[in-house]
Amino acid sequence: MIKVAVCGACGKMGANVIEILQGDNEAVAVCGIDARGGNIGGLTVYSSFEDIAGKPDVIIDFSSPAALNGELEYAVKNNVPAVIGSTGFTDEQLAKIKKASEKVAIFRTANFSLGVNLLCELVKRAAQTLGEKFDVEIIEKHHNKKVDAPSGTALMLADSVNSAFDNGKPYVNGREGICGKRGNEIGMHAVRGGTIVGEHDVMFCGEDEIITVSHSARSKKVFAAGAVKAAKWLAGKPAGMYQMKDIL
Ligand SMILES: NC(=O)c1ccc[n+]([C@@H]2O[C@H](COP(=O)([O-])OP(=O)(O)OC[C@H]3O[C@@H](n4cnc5c(N)ncnc54)[C@H](O)[C@@H]3O)[C@@H](O)[C@H]2O)c1
Repeated sequence: MIKVAVCGACGKMGANVIEILQGDNEAVAVCGIDARGGNIGGLTVYSSFEDIAGKPDVIIDFSSPAALNGELEYAVKNNVPAVIGSTGFTDEQLAKIKKASEKVAIFRTANFSLGVNLLCELVKRAAQTLGEKFDVEIIEKHHNKKVDAPSGTALMLADSVNSAFDNGKPYVNGREGICGKRGNEIGMHAVRGGTIVGEHDVMFCGEDEIITVSHSARSKKVFAAGAVKAAKWLAGKPAGMYQMKDIL
């Protein structure tokens, strides 16, 4: 059995990961790590990585960028691979993740669903075909508890579109006031409300036509299941940075 430590165990995604692991016959949750600490149905939840007793085979992290330093230190020191699903990292934190991946296996994606990863391919293809004459706007919608904006998935989609333009397009988050005419940017807009799990629309707006490619997540389970699949795949892998396309 692959032993999994669940970081963010007391959160919504953590609960979904633990539930999926309960029904899995290849992997099992052996502990949680969460700033809240405590115990979930008999599973010990440590309030910091330093306190973990026993070595897990892999970490699944859906918590917050605030957990990153402790997690990377633990992963590198103990050679425990980490599947990182948290979003909202700064460029500096992303660089730390990359550096750590020189010493330990790290899998990071802002979206574990098959559909969104296919959408990334589709929007790149659309951008290549439609070119500069189509303005690209991304609208993402999430629940009212989400703390970061734009979503990690919106950034992933923007990066996919931008890769068709040699990464030359700047990103503009929302617009207000007299903001002037639109340039060659990719516009991103964040809607927050209620219990929306995650919706992403990528619009290609041309002279007399609009193409919209959309993804709608109906439950957080789709992300948790993807993370468990990634963890089983990552356990035992050599150091390196891995992503969804490696397992699809
Ligand atoms: N990659 C994906 O597919 C995907 C999908 C959904 C959510 N997410 C991301 O996962 C993260 C968690 O989402 P959620 O909906 O479960 O949030 P949540 O607020 O329900 O849970 C987050 C948990 O992390 C814990 N936490 C916060 N800071 C911590 C720290 N420093 N150390 C340890 N634990 C800490 C909190 O106590 C909480 O229990 C977010 O960044 C979200 O954007 C990613």
